[in-house]
Amino acid sequence: MKRFKKVIAAVLTAVIAASLLAGCGGSGDGTDKRIVRIGHNQSSTHPTHIALTAFEEYIEENLGDKYDVEVYPSELLGSQTDMVQLTQTGAIDFCVASNAILETFSKNYEIFNLPYLFVNAEAYHAVMDDTSITDQLFKSTEKAGFEAVTWLDAGTRNFYTVDTPIESPADLKGLKIRVQQSPTNVEMMRLLGGSANPMGFGDVYTALQSNIIDGAENNELALTDNGHGDICKYYSYDMHQMVPDILIGNYEFLNELPEDERAIFEEGFKIINTVEREEWTKAVDAAKERAENEMGVTFLYPDQEPFVEACQPLHETVLANNPDIKPIYDAIQEYNAKYADAE
Ligand code: GCU
Repeated sequence: MKRFKKVIAAVLTAVIAASLLAGCGGSGDGTDKRIVRIGHNQSSTHPTHIALTAFEEYIEENLGDKYDVEVYPSELLGSQTDMVQLTQTGAIDFCVASNAILETFSKNYEIFNLPYLFVNAEAYHAVMDDTSITDQLFKSTEKAGFEAVTWLDAGTRNFYTVDTPIESPADLKGLKIRVQQSPTNVEMMRLLGGSANPMGFGDVYTALQSNIIDGAENNELALTDNGHGDICKYYSYDMHQMVPDILIGNYEFLNELPEDERAIFEEGFKIINTVEREEWTKAVDAAKERAENEMGVTFLYPDQEPFVEACQPLHETVLANNPDIKPIYDAIQEYNAKYADAE
């Protein structure tokens, strides 16, 4: 299956590259509409895909004479890292990337990868909705060839394993845990005592199945949508990260849009955020129910304090190595104080 997906991705990428080289951005329906290609790594029933489809409809309703939006799910255009590179060069126009991998493209993104950065989901959402905080990052990547246009909720990340209940950091000792490809995540795993195995999302199922790793960490949808709950029977709410997904667009494409069209695209980005968040809450409840009742996954609720303490040094290290993100960090602490009693 994986090899099949990779072959399709390679073929699609080659077709896209060839059509761009030949200068034919046409929609294939005989008109010369500009095709807007968006890639992501989730299934076609995932909130991300539902939200991007709503965007497609909105743009085609309002600018349908000029643009034909195509959404490619399931890593059809490659892994997230591949898709970010394709977006940088303009081979595709947009992709959804986890904030985790963006730190290797633009260092300041490491702020949202810090474990236990937010006191709760309310503080997290308020920060991500505050453009005076996010714009500093989202609009700072012209040199990297992309701009971030909105964020998508990806819930809370927690550890899950094939057969080891994780009740405290000590239980992670000796376990090989898949993390996203980000130095911050690798360091987090080291501090928690497990052994970090960075790899792309699409490789995790096979790695679990073939015992290359003992577990992974993600939101609840990974159990159901990606089938990890077929293999992993313990999911432990240590709540170590709330890492947003970020929709990024090719810098030139976005900044060459005429003003009126850019305004319509901006409205479309807001629709993505709203639709995805509505779908997200429903999807998490459904995933949990299915994992517990149909897949036999046990959910655990450990004391979070030992996990928080183990990870704390990472805040200091990251801030010391990258003082530029201190103002954002401080602004987040204000939200944490404001929302401390929420829930
Ligand atoms: C979540 C997130 C994805 C990310 C994945 C991962 O599913 O939404 O953007 O790629 O985690 O762990 O790689």
